[in-house]
Amino acid sequence: MNHVIVTGGAGYIGSHACKALAQAGFVPVTFDNLVTGWEDAVKFGPFEKGDLLDRARLDEVFSAYEPVAVMHFAALSQVGESMKAPGKYWLNNVQGSLNLIEATVEAGVRNFVFSSTCATYGDHDNVTLDESVEQLPINAYGASKRAIEDMLRDFDAAYGLHSVIFRYFNVAGADPEAEVGEFHQPETHLIPLMLDAIDGKRDALTIFGTDYDTPDGTCIRDYVHVCDLVDAHVLGLKRLLDGHGSRVFNLGTGTGFSVREVIDQSRAVTNRAVPYNEGPRRAGDCTKLVSGSTRAEKELGWEPKRSKMDLMIADAWRWHQTGHYDK
Ligand code: UFG
Repeated sequence: MNHVIVTGGAGYIGSHACKALAQAGFVPVTFDNLVTGWEDAVKFGPFEKGDLLDRARLDEVFSAYEPVAVMHFAALSQVGESMKAPGKYWLNNVQGSLNLIEATVEAGVRNFVFSSTCATYGDHDNVTLDESVEQLPINAYGASKRAIEDMLRDFDAAYGLHSVIFRYFNVAGADPEAEVGEFHQPETHLIPLMLDAIDGKRDALTIFGTDYDTPDGTCIRDYVHVCDLVDAHVLGLKRLLDGHGSRVFNLGTGTGFSVREVIDQSRAVTNRAVPYNEGPRRAGDCTKLVSGSTRAEKELGWEPKRSKMDLMIADAWRWHQTGHYDK
């Protein structure tokens, strides 16, 4: 069987990846500690509860399934929190990944897809963010992901562990069939917070900083639909299984939206007012993160189909309205 171990498969991106893997004929085996994930999001393959810090449990799961590859999503991923509690990020993300990478190599598996981030680049003024840009993260989250990228390069050199590293820009939207979607506890991401504010589930959204050096003073991000993002993962996995070596790919659309522009589009899509106020900057936020690469399109044949702001908000809104996690 084509088993793929999916760490973080009970989370937002991991659960969408499991659906895409199952549709592509793989059997996704979710390995998740359920600290930020949800067991009822595991719908497309077996679930193995476990923590990346527990090496023996990892070995058990590898020998039970004999996977062809690993997709590694499990991580703490909040920029703001990483600035307040960096130790958590170095332990969970870096030590956890080291355990996983060692277990992978010792199990004889040589294909590894890794969820990295454009936060590894840091703030580069007027520089096109392609994969060759120097990685100078300005927050502990980005630093922890850069360290894992370095680790993968070393394990490739030493053991021939081939990896596809994806540096995500801002992931948004939800499965259009609303089988899975985004739900973090606590929620920190712009679009779900805004949808909650729109239908009164929480107070007004606060815009973090209106004095950035951008046309409207708010931060600019490149938003990519989660379904397009996971499609790229399946293509990356197939590339590895076809025998190609390690490669890094940005996953973004090349188009930036300011926080105010996202608010405007949400108003238009939902036809509802967006209650918001303006607050100070959030520590660790870059001014502008927009992909400047089409490598994934050219080399993987990736075609983002749903990464348009109105579609991403509409899909997130549909998921939001299922009330799936209103408990
Ligand atoms: N924002 C607000 N108010 C909020 C929440 C967010 O103004 O209540 C702003 C942020 O300042 C930022 C933008 O909206 O400018 C997007 O913020 P998110 O928290 O949604 O996303 P981040 O850009 O901070 O982080 C996300 C992922 C990271 C990833 C990063 C890359 O969470 O894993 O994108 O940019 F590394």
